[in-house]
Amino acid sequence: MLGDMRTQVAIIGAGPAGLVLGQLLANAGVESVIVENRSRDYVEARQRAGVLEQGTVELLRENGVGQRLDREALRHDGIYLQWPGTRHHLDFPDLCGRSVWIYGQTEVVKDLVAARLTAGLPLYFDVSDTAVQDVETDRPSVAFLDADGNAQRIECDLIAGCDGFHGVTRPAIPESSSRTWQRDYPYGWLGILAQAPPSTDELIYAWHPNGFALNSMRSPTITRLYLQVGLDENVADWSDDRIWTELTTRLGHPEWELTTGPILDKGITPMRSFVSEPMRYGRLFLAGDAAHIVPPTGAKGLNLAVADAKLLADAVIASYGSARSGPRRARTLVGTADSVPPGPATSAGRGRGPGAARTLVGTAGSVRPGPATSAGGGQELLDAYPETALRRVWRCTHFSWWMTSMLHIEGRDPFARELQLAQLRYLSTSRAAAVSLAENYTGLPYGW
Ligand code: APR
Ligand code: PHB
Repeated sequence: MLGDMRTQVAIIGAGPAGLVLGQLLANAGVESVIVENRSRDYVEARQRAGVLEQGTVELLRENGVGQRLDREALRHDGIYLQWPGTRHHLDFPDLCGRSVWIYGQTEVVKDLVAARLTAGLPLYFDVSDTAVQDVETDRPSVAFLDADGNAQRIECDLIAGCDGFHGVTRPAIPESSSRTWQRDYPYGWLGILAQAPPSTDELIYAWHPNGFALNSMRSPTITRLYLQVGLDENVADWSDDRIWTELTTRLGHPEWELTTGPILDKGITPMRSFVSEPMRYGRLFLAGDAAHIVPPTGAKGLNLAVADAKLLADAVIASYGSARSGPRRARTLVGTADSVPPGPATSAGRGRGPGAARTLVGTAGSVRPGPATSAGGGQELLDAYPETALRRVWRCTHFSWWMTSMLHIEGRDPFARELQLAQLRYLSTSRAAAVSLAENYTGLPYGW
């Protein structure tokens, strides 16, 4: 059975980019349908980074999904940079007037999913065979099989490709029209989640001759720690004892002790920088990991996905605003994460497609005029999106590459090591250098 729906924006992927975009559009009265090929349980359990820039926190708050974050996130006013014999604190409010918040990406995703489902907005989990169609025309569509295997098609004004690095939207742009840049780093991170209170008040980024180590956290009882490892390393060769011994060595500092505890999760991830251009092809717009990947040092991945979603949402909203009868403004914010604690499955949310969702799409009354198509009106922001978004992408790509290169040991080159240490000492003695790190780490303003 083929089900046809009509919406304004079809969003592929319910990661941070797709969910934030859906939230911002809903709050401005623009309709969207999100399709996600994983289950709700899966997307809410995936272990990812956990540092939110101030701008990300403000955006989530302003859009009705900041209640649990305000209760549970830990505000951090700086980080420590460490190398043997020195642990130097950078004070972000002093350096740039901003802070960061510790709150797992999984928690952000849970809050956004809960807000969307509580508002009865369409979010299809467990879809398969997602395909984008006719993106070069003004009647693009997304085809997919829903959780029950029924063929569905969403006709829309625009498609947002928020389906991550392995999605289907970036490959839908012909190779002849695209360009990519990639750097694979010759090391990865072994990451663990441990049932142990953090042994530090703020994150420690440690340079060590054995390799980089990072002491992070998720909550007052859960520590997140990382070790630089070779690409050929197998996680099975890393016993809990070996991990704690190596962390203790690399993070070691006089009169300081690393708290240990049961390891709850263990995994190795490779590190890569990747940028794909253009971020727009016809009526297909890419956001987040679908268009770019940064290595995790500096925690930019999630924040960059949110920044893309914000830019794209502003552009889409402006484009409808310019049409003669644009969407009505939403009277209330979509945001009830507070009233729906993440937890057991609800029939609307887990596994199956949305229950109430179908009443919101596919009715003639809900079809609104498409975005302005000719130059002028609110079209400029949409036209500018690929360029505006890429400016920030390349800034964050540089920052993540720079932090990574400064802190990781590559080969046995003594010259490279001295350069890294010279840079770390410079950051600890020059306010100008420290300000530069602080403003990038806490996040440059949107539209930068
Ligand atoms: N159809 C539907 N959904 C898809 C498809 C598809 N063909 N392919 C992928 N997806 C889904 C994935 O299952 C995932 O839930 O798209 C979502 C993309 O989410 P993310 O990978 O989290 O990407 P993004 O939203 O851009 O967020 C980037 O996530 O990977 C981390 O470190 C990264 O923090 C960064 C952030
Ligand atoms: C994390 O807590 O997962 C984390 C923190 C800081 C980073 C990268 C990852 O730079």
